[in-house]
Amino acid sequence: MQNASPETRWFHLCLADDLAGPNAFVTTRVGAVPLVAQNIKGRVVAFRNVCTHRFAVIHGEPAGCGPLRCPYHGWSFDADGVPVGLPFNPTDFQLEAEGRRRLALHPAGLARCGRLVFVRVALDGPSLEEELGAALFARLVTLSDAFPHRGAMLEPADDQAGDWERIEIANLRLALAPGRALVLHSAAPPGADPRFSRTVTLHPATAPTTADAELPA
Ligand code: FES
Repeated sequence: MQNASPETRWFHLCLADDLAGPNAFVTTRVGAVPLVAQNIKGRVVAFRNVCTHRFAVIHGEPAGCGPLRCPYHGWSFDADGVPVGLPFNPTDFQLEAEGRRRLALHPAGLARCGRLVFVRVALDGPSLEEELGAALFARLVTLSDAFPHRGAMLEPADDQAGDWERIEIANLRLALAPGRALVLHSAAPPGADPRFSRTVTLHPATAPTTADAELPA
């Protein structure tokens, strides 16, 4: 099912591995809305990547590792989006617990399909499985489990391109080389800078014994 509204559409962001480390983050933008998915003390959460104090963008890089801390006045946020570290709070902001809770970051939608991580602006709307369809959702789970290793970038040679299977869904294009590799290309969502497009090549857990080894259904 293709969802027409950018706010409620899911966009592929990254692999779960990209968010596995402490303070790992990946950002994107959907139209005018910057989004971030971040590991905070082992929880992976998603928010609008916009500080609720004076609306600065929090993480300016497409990906990295660092606390969810606004570069402007240094507020840092916990896994619920609540500002918990406010330099000079007693003199400059005087925010008690309730005031901090009111200034929590706006949560964003976050969902996984196997090792693939998707985000969207809205919290409510069709689930990722509803948007992809049950059959494709299950296929992507199988594929993402079957190709666990990152490797050198691979592109089909012109005379081999016809042998590659291609799947296009959401902003994601998968190219599946027979028995060899899975290339994931995530296009930047509508309105986003091209630096938010990403390509990763994944290789199978064990090397195939024949050139045309059977691929996961
Ligand atoms: S604008 Fe973010 S802490 Fe002030």
